[in-house]
Amino acid sequence: MLPYQDPAQPTLNRVGDLMSRMSLDEKIGQLVQVDRAALTAPEDIATYRLGSVLSGGGSAPADNSPNGWAEMYDGYQRAAQNTPLGIPIIYGVDAVHGHNTVRGATIFPHNIGLGATRDPALVQRIGRATAEEVAGTGPKWTFAPCLCVARNDRWGRTYESYGELPEIPASMTSIVGGLQGASLAEPSSILATAKHYVGDGGTTGGDDQGNTQLSEADLRAIHLPPFQAAVAQGVGSVMISFSSWNGQKLHGHRQLITDLLKGELHFSGFVVTDWAGIDQIDGARGFTGNEIATAINAGVDMVMVPTDYRQFLTLLRAEVQAGRISAERIDDANRRILAKKFELGLFERRFTDRALTSTVGSQPHRELARDAVRRSQVLLKNANNALPLAKTGGKIFVAGKSADDIGNQSGGWTISWQGASGNTTPGTTILQGIRNAVGSGATVTYNRDGAGIDRSYRAAIAVVGETPYAEGRGDRTGSMGLDNADLRTLSRLRATGVPVIVVLVSGRPLDIATQLGGWAALVAAWLPGTEGQGVADVLFGDYNPTGKLPVTWMANASQQPINVGDGKPALFPYGFGLSYPGGPTPSPSPSVSPPSPPRPTPSASPARRPTPTPTRSPSAAPTPSPTASAVAASCTVRYAVTSEWPTGFVTDIRITAGSAAIDGWTLRFTFPGGQTVTNAWNATVTQSGDQVSATNLDWNAIIAAGESTSFGFQAEGPTGSPRTATINTTPCTLT
Ligand code: GLC
Repeated sequence: MLPYQDPAQPTLNRVGDLMSRMSLDEKIGQLVQVDRAALTAPEDIATYRLGSVLSGGGSAPADNSPNGWAEMYDGYQRAAQNTPLGIPIIYGVDAVHGHNTVRGATIFPHNIGLGATRDPALVQRIGRATAEEVAGTGPKWTFAPCLCVARNDRWGRTYESYGELPEIPASMTSIVGGLQGASLAEPSSILATAKHYVGDGGTTGGDDQGNTQLSEADLRAIHLPPFQAAVAQGVGSVMISFSSWNGQKLHGHRQLITDLLKGELHFSGFVVTDWAGIDQIDGARGFTGNEIATAINAGVDMVMVPTDYRQFLTLLRAEVQAGRISAERIDDANRRILAKKFELGLFERRFTDRALTSTVGSQPHRELARDAVRRSQVLLKNANNALPLAKTGGKIFVAGKSADDIGNQSGGWTISWQGASGNTTPGTTILQGIRNAVGSGATVTYNRDGAGIDRSYRAAIAVVGETPYAEGRGDRTGSMGLDNADLRTLSRLRATGVPVIVVLVSGRPLDIATQLGGWAALVAAWLPGTEGQGVADVLFGDYNPTGKLPVTWMANASQQPINVGDGKPALFPYGFGLSYPGGPTPSPSPSVSPPSPPRPTPSASPARRPTPTPTRSPSAAPTPSPTASAVAASCTVRYAVTSEWPTGFVTDIRITAGSAAIDGWTLRFTFPGGQTVTNAWNATVTQSGDQVSATNLDWNAIIAAGESTSFGFQAEGPTGSPRTATINTTPCTLT
């Protein structure tokens, strides 16, 4: 047994020994990743010493079953074994919301819904379940999580973002621990990928693969923290973004890849490009030797070619032989890639672990997904407590194009790259979930367009929204409203006077403000995946909604981009989410404090001059000082009741700083009597008797002079407004 073949040897020794035996061709082969569809001759893996194979979006074997994948994967590993050094391939796949390419796999909610849960521990469990299903079909690498910070909802990848502030994506890097396990050597562990580095969610106009125009300070404050958190979690790979930063393509950006990611952040894994990403560097079609050298010298370690690997290898070899790519850079890339292959145990266990294959679509995973669906639902409106619906008595009408459509409720990156409407994979539709919840207790009638509805029904549930899309094909540069089919269905339902409960299945907030008044209730379901039962659990009260918006909900599309702190009047603010009467106790949101990333300058949207971020006083909380009374006296609190019903109400409270910034705040006021806060957002709200205290979260602690921040809560009892309010113990003007 040679040293590199000895698992008892330290990884560093194994890498060193193996590289000492590798030819130039064997080294440059490790940098090449090919899509399985382009690999018409699997033996090319051996002929060209290819280091990696991938399944691009929807690229599946003809037998798209767990066993079909395992047979395919093992075939590639056998081909790789048939070389002098027997270096295994590493196989990558987009398992971005479960092992979503494989028919029958558990499909979890897309990231925007997981962001609404504010539950990093849940997301870690989802990572573990996903890793089991992926490893059970062979591959040991997923191109997930996407850590994009979506700043413009027009972007077609908004649903791949956990939220519009870095705090949620940073906290959800817990998924890396789930995917990679305590050790990559565990049979069910797979390599995770932090993507797309960096700033993919910040492009002007939300243009996919567009240009992010930000100062370095704002790029670091808004888009970098999730990658810092992922590196801290030990993420094994990072994928480069197609987008540009101030006009320069990320795929050739040495300062951001080598100096910042590998240097300043000490990222020790390997960097992979996106699909043919280096082809975009010079703006012309295809790739050139110069683009290859630019990318690899910028710090790229592996290139997702992904098709013309022969030509790529010819050009790469020429660049090395000409000295335009140094042997040291090739060796550094090899060390990074081979280290992960050794750590994953690929040399010892190169074939599918068939003991894990039965986990694909297993009941425990589907139960986990159902729980995630419940927790991702955000209750945005509930007039007269229309929800929860009773399970017994009378008749319920269900309508809408997404009521009985697994494809629509799963969204893009499901079976195929773009996803598709229809019965694309086994699961529970929202309609089936409703029928399961009601059983024989009531009559459930379904008609996609609402035909047949009349006054005899006690409620109508309309499941409407978006049909599947992925990446740039989902960019919405024009209207962001409901389509005509949905509007016709809603109109038909409303015409009967039956209370209409809208369940919105979409990858982002939609422009619905003008229709909202006619709806009795609104639930943002996002893209829940295969376990639609979780939506019914909320509709019928088997789970009291706890979801909170991970993105600001526009009042109209012309507001895009609209984000926390930019002062635009949203329909529903970031963090908003109602619960049912008698609901959960006020919980600080997010429920698990994320790693504390640098606080973004909230008005860092290009449309506004960035307000100077006041330097935070070293003391944790402001101590009253002579200026405090000046600040408080000139500060203003606007207390607004935004909706009310016989037994409760919802408030939106805006604090405006006076002539000096407020650095950390606690607002205190006294209810008139009989009011009880049940649920809050964007502040930690506690109550003792009629005394209410609301304290800032990390991201809204600082209110610059003259600027504002808002929070809100839901309460039971008669609508009531306080007469006075103080901030940090000094009185404020209350309006
Ligand atoms: C796509 C996506 C990226 C994905 C890759 C492989 O273009 O940008 O998120 O991981 O290609 O499918």
